[in-house]
Amino acid sequence: MSDFEPRDAERLVAASYTPDDIEIDRTLRPKRLADYLGQQRVKDNLSVLIEAAAGRNEPLDHVLLSGPPGLGKTTLAGVIANELGVRLRTTSGPAIERAGDLAAILTNLEERDVLFIDEIHRLNRQIEEVLYPAMEDFSLDIVIGKGPAARSLRLELPRFTLVGATTRTGLLTGPLRDRFGMAFRLDYYTPEEQAAIVRRSAAILEVPIDADGAGEISRRSRGTPRLANRLLKRVRDYAQVRHAGRITEDIAAEALAFFEVDHIGLDRMDLAVLDALVNRFSGRPVGLSTLATAVSEEPDTLEDVYEPYLLQLGLLMRTPKGRQATPRAYEHLGLKPPVEERQEGLF
Ligand SMILES: Nc1ncnc2c1ncn2[C@@H]1O[C@H](COP(=O)(O)OP(=O)(O)OP(=O)(O)O)[C@@H](O)[C@H]1O
Ligand SMILES: [Mg+2]
Repeated sequence: MSDFEPRDAERLVAASYTPDDIEIDRTLRPKRLADYLGQQRVKDNLSVLIEAAAGRNEPLDHVLLSGPPGLGKTTLAGVIANELGVRLRTTSGPAIERAGDLAAILTNLEERDVLFIDEIHRLNRQIEEVLYPAMEDFSLDIVIGKGPAARSLRLELPRFTLVGATTRTGLLTGPLRDRFGMAFRLDYYTPEEQAAIVRRSAAILEVPIDADGAGEISRRSRGTPRLANRLLKRVRDYAQVRHAGRITEDIAAEALAFFEVDHIGLDRMDLAVLDALVNRFSGRPVGLSTLATAVSEEPDTLEDVYEPYLLQLGLLMRTPKGRQATPRAYEHLGLKPPVEERQEGLF
C-alpha cells in the first residue's frame, strides 16, 4: 500500500497551494509524541494507553481522531505507530472500493500493526460491515462462491489497531463509532502552540526567524499547523527576495499582507464568504449550497475547511435558517452591523 493522493482538504487549508507544500508537510511531520506539540490532553491520554498496551504486549484499542483539516490527524496516526514500535499501514475511505480491497489490507497486517483509514466517514456501508467483526473479534467473514453454492468462511486476523480519521464525526454511523475504544477530537492550536510549531519547523528548514516573527506567523495561521508551515515557507521566500532573509515581525506581517492573509489569518476565500453574507445577501441567513455557489466553492469544502474557523472566531453563525454573518464580521470588514437585527436581540 502506498501513500494516496492528497485530497482537496489537504490542498485547500491555504488558499494558495503548491505541490511543494505536500512535500513540506511530510518533511516537517513529527515522528514521536515528544515532537507532537500541543493537544496536551490527547497526548496525556494516549501516552498512558500506549504504555499500558505495550506493557501487556497487546494491540492498542482502536482510536478515532476527528477535527478540521491540517490539525495533525494523519501525523498522530504515524506517531502512535512509532510509539508502539509497529508498522503503519495507510489507506482511506474512498480508496477502498470493494470488500475484497479491505480483506486484502486486513489479511496483510501483522500482529499489533496500526491500520490508518483516513476519511473513514467515506467508507461505503457494505465495506463498513466487513470492518465490524474485524474490529471486534479480529475476524473476517468471507463469502465463497455464488448463489445456492455460496458458503461463508470465518478467517482469523492478526490483532491490529485501527486508527480512523474524519473531519466530521457527525458523518460516521453509530455502529462504526461505537467500535472505537477511544475517540479524540483535535482542536485548533493556541497561538503559543502555533508559535512553537513555527519555531520547530524553522529550525528544521534552517530558516532564520526571531520570536516575534514566529508570533506573527502563528497569529495568522488560524490555529492550524499545516497552514503555519505553509505560511512560514511563503514568508521565507518573501524575506529572501525582498529582505536580507531573516524573518522579523514586520517582515512576516508585510509578507503575509502580500500573500493576502489578513491579521487574523483570513484569506481571500474567507473574506469572500463574509462579503457574500454581508453584501450580496444583505445579512440574511443563507443556505450552505447557495453560499457555496456565491463564492464558487464546493459545499463540502466550505463546510469542512472554511466554516469551522469562521465559527471559531465568532464571525459566522449557523442558524436554523442558514448561515449568517455576526456583528464581529461586519466590524472585521469595517462596516456597521445592521440595526434591525440588533433590536431583535440576535446580537
Ligand atoms: N502537533 C503537531 N506538532 C507539530 N506539527 C504538526 C502537528 N500537527 C500537525 N503538524 C504539521 O501539520 C501538518 C499537517 O498535519 P496532518 O497532515 O497530520 O493533518 P490532518 O489532520 O491529517 O489533516 P487532513 O484532515 O487534511 O488530513 C503535518 O505535516 C505537520 O507538519
Ligand atoms: Mg490527514
